[in-house]
Amino acid sequence: MNLMSAELTEKQFKKISRLVYHLCGINLKDGKQALVRARLMKRLRALKLGSFEAYLNHIESNRDPQELGFLIDVITTNKTSFFREPEHFNYLRDDILPNLTSRRLRFWTAACSSGEEPFSLGIMLREKMPDIISRDVKILATDISKRMLEKARQAIYGEEELRDLSPLLLQKYFIRIQEQPTRAYQVKKISGTWFGWPG
Ligand SMILES: C[S@@+](CC[C@H](N)C(=O)[O-])C[C@H]1O[C@@H](n2cnc3c(N)ncnc32)[C@H](O)[C@@H]1O
Repeated sequence: MNLMSAELTEKQFKKISRLVYHLCGINLKDGKQALVRARLMKRLRALKLGSFEAYLNHIESNRDPQELGFLIDVITTNKTSFFREPEHFNYLRDDILPNLTSRRLRFWTAACSSGEEPFSLGIMLREKMPDIISRDVKILATDISKRMLEKARQAIYGEEELRDLSPLLLQKYFIRIQEQPTRAYQVKKISGTWFGWPG
């Protein structure tokens, strides 16, 4: 089966866009047609389907929640890193945290991708909240992509993904679990902080 020539027509792209918007609120702009085609190719290959028409028929006739989950997995952009958007973390650290006097604190990272954001938050809270142990602090982390949530739950990151963390934070909050072929680390328990993942 030669999938390279499978064409995603404008009409098919619009159908997929509507479905994706309905499923997770992601607005696939017109310029994204080539990107969507490239990403959906993975699903055509996995399902051994020869065209996007066959793929649309497949999801329309089956409405299989697992396939809809795979569709979301390939469509979502999961770019993340530790302490990404530093100005947000700085704002939280300097303007929000000093005013949080309640013992019971709840945080929610609503689109956590592979977990770097909730773990960055946990590390920051542990570092900047001296009385965290005596408080009741929970972080809920959710994401529409099951694949990303699974990675977040495992809390394992390669050396490259940890390159922006200082050696001190790496040593304090991660344990090296693999040396070869590349180094990998797992997040240690961050005392005073409880992480909740859906499912
Ligand atoms: C670009 S990543 C950002 C991750 C993280 N918040 C950060 O800033 O580093 C966007 C994430 O949003 C998730 N997402 C998109 N739509 C969502 C929805 N409706 N509900 C939950 N998560 C969603 C995607 O799966 C993806 O992992």
